[in-house]
Amino acid sequence: MKILILGAGGFIGSNLTEHLLRSGDHMVMGLDSDDEKIRDLGVWEGRFSFLKCDVRSDFPLIESFVATSDVVIDLIAYANPSLYVEKPLDVVDLNFFQNLKLVQECIRTHKRLIQFSTCEVYGMSAGNREPFKEDETNLVMGPIKNQRWIYASAKELLERIIYAHGQEGDLNFTIIRPFNFVGPKIDYLVEAGTLGGPRVFSHFMSALMGNGPMRLVNGGESHRSYTHIGDAVRAIQAVIENPDRCRNQIINIGNPNNGTTIKELAYLMMELYEELTNEKSGAWVEEMAGDEFYGAGYEDCDWRVPDVSKISALGWKSELDLRETFRQTMQWYLEETSRRDVLPSFLKVQPASVS
Ligand code: UGA
Repeated sequence: MKILILGAGGFIGSNLTEHLLRSGDHMVMGLDSDDEKIRDLGVWEGRFSFLKCDVRSDFPLIESFVATSDVVIDLIAYANPSLYVEKPLDVVDLNFFQNLKLVQECIRTHKRLIQFSTCEVYGMSAGNREPFKEDETNLVMGPIKNQRWIYASAKELLERIIYAHGQEGDLNFTIIRPFNFVGPKIDYLVEAGTLGGPRVFSHFMSALMGNGPMRLVNGGESHRSYTHIGDAVRAIQAVIENPDRCRNQIINIGNPNNGTTIKELAYLMMELYEELTNEKSGAWVEEMAGDEFYGAGYEDCDWRVPDVSKISALGWKSELDLRETFRQTMQWYLEETSRRDVLPSFLKVQPASVS
C-alpha cells in the first residue's frame, strides 16, 4: 500500500512512520514542515520518501502526493493546550481550515482518508464515569470565553463534516481519536519552572532533569489514560490494514487500564527518575491555578477513559502498563540527552512558545 502521512515529522507521525517501515512492506511518503524527528530513520530501499513542506503554503505540492497515494493519513495539528488559549485563531486555522482542504482533496480524488481527531472532543465528563464511546457519549464543552475548547470544537466540526460526507457517499474515511499517547519524541523539553508550553510529560521530565517545580495544575486532580506510542502505532496499523471494517467509523485508540490523576503521575515519575538514575532529583511538587499556568481561558478535561471495543475487535491489545509506559519514555529521554553530541531541538531546553 502507498501510504501518505501528513505530519510525518511529529510525535505520532515519526513513530508511526518508523513502525510501518519496520513491520510491513508498505511504501511510506512523509510530509511535514519539520524533519528533526525522522532524520535518524535511515535508508529504506525505496520504501520511504520525505519532503519538507507546509500545508499552509505548499498545497499544490501536497495535492500531487495525495494523487499518488492509496491512503492519506492526516496528522497535521497543533495539540498543546497552552496554544489553544495563546493562539486560538492559529489553532483553528491549522486544525480546521487547513485540514478541511485535505478532506476536500480526498473527496475530489476518491482517496481513503484516516483523519486524526482527538479524545478532547469528548470534553468534560459532566459526572459520567463510563468509558467514552465513539458513537454514544455526549461531547461536553465549556463556555466560549474558555478558549481551551476552541481546539476541540474545531476538531469536532471537522469530524462532523467528514461524517456527513461519508453519509452522502462521497468519502471513505476513518476518524481516530487518540487518548494521551506518550513515548519517545513526544514534546520538547523546557526550562524547569516554565509556564504553558508542552504537554505534562515534558514539564515533569524537565523539572526532574533540571531540579525545578513539578506544577500540579488545579491540584493535579484531572484524570488521564495514557497509552504507550508503541501500542498506539500497532493500533493505527490495524486501522490502516482493515479498510473495510474501519470504513466510515470513528475509533478510539487508548488504554483504559492506564488511568491516573496528574498528581499520581507526578509522584510516579519522581519514583521512576530515582530508579532510572540511581539518584533523587531535586524537583519538588507544588500546586498552581490553571489560569496562572496557562493564562485566562484555560479549563480542563476532568476525566478521560476510552472504550476500546472497536479497536479491540480488530485484534489489537495494549501491552504496556502505566509504569512501564512512563519508565520506557523517561529512559529514552535520559539516554538520548546524554548520548548525543548534537541534540535535536526537541531534546534541548526550549522556550515555551515552540510548538
Ligand atoms: C492534550 C491535547 O489537548 C489533546 O488533544 C491530546 O489528545 C492530548 O494532549 C494527548 O496527548 O493525547 P491534555 O491531556 O490536556 O490534552 O494534555 P496535557 O497538557 O499533557 O495536560 C494533562 C493534564 O496535566 C492537564 O490536567 C493539565 O492541566 C495538567 N498539567 C500540565 C499539569 O498539572 N502540570 C503541567 O506542568 C502541565
